[in-house]
Amino acid sequence: MDLSKFIRNIEHFPKDGVHFKDITPLLADSAAMADGLTQLMALVGDEKIDKVAAIESRGFFFGTLLAQNLNAGFVPIRKPGKLPYKTLKEPYQLEYGIDALEIHEDAILKGERVLLHDDVLATGGTMKAACKLIESLGGEIVQCNFLLELEFLNGIQKLKNRPVKSLLKY
Ligand code: PRP
Ligand code: MG
Repeated sequence: MDLSKFIRNIEHFPKDGVHFKDITPLLADSAAMADGLTQLMALVGDEKIDKVAAIESRGFFFGTLLAQNLNAGFVPIRKPGKLPYKTLKEPYQLEYGIDALEIHEDAILKGERVLLHDDVLATGGTMKAACKLIESLGGEIVQCNFLLELEFLNGIQKLKNRPVKSLLKY
């Protein structure tokens, strides 16, 4: 199935000059969701995965589905102050200002094979911070995968030698 039909372009959101890719039409269509999951699973191939870690909030939609289908545990990587137990924190650059991501310090065991998932790869700052959290805990990043990648922003450059795959490229 061509999933691009389920991605809606919104001009000037959340601010002037930004072309936003809205995935809610995809989320609203059960057949498209099922096919999206099948396609993401195909990106992973037959790699053994211990944990799927996904990034709040839009990474969570497919993140838990991937974890179940891979017989892997699910790990939420969240915005600051949301996780209740002891956390590691990694700051990252936004277009204006700085944000951070957190993970529970016991979420990944040393040597575990981790699939990282998010909806969109834009500048790459978000996924880079998530990669650093996994690596700090001793996890092995098997793949970072995305529903879609905004290639013109060259976010892949920030992710260096980590394996990156996405379903749709713009
Ligand atoms: C969006 C998107 C990715 C990130 C990509 O999340 O869902 O997580 O930005 O941007 P980057 O590659 O330039 O870092 P956002 O922070 O808007 O939050 P949300 O998922 O909660 O909507
Ligand atoms: Mg996000």
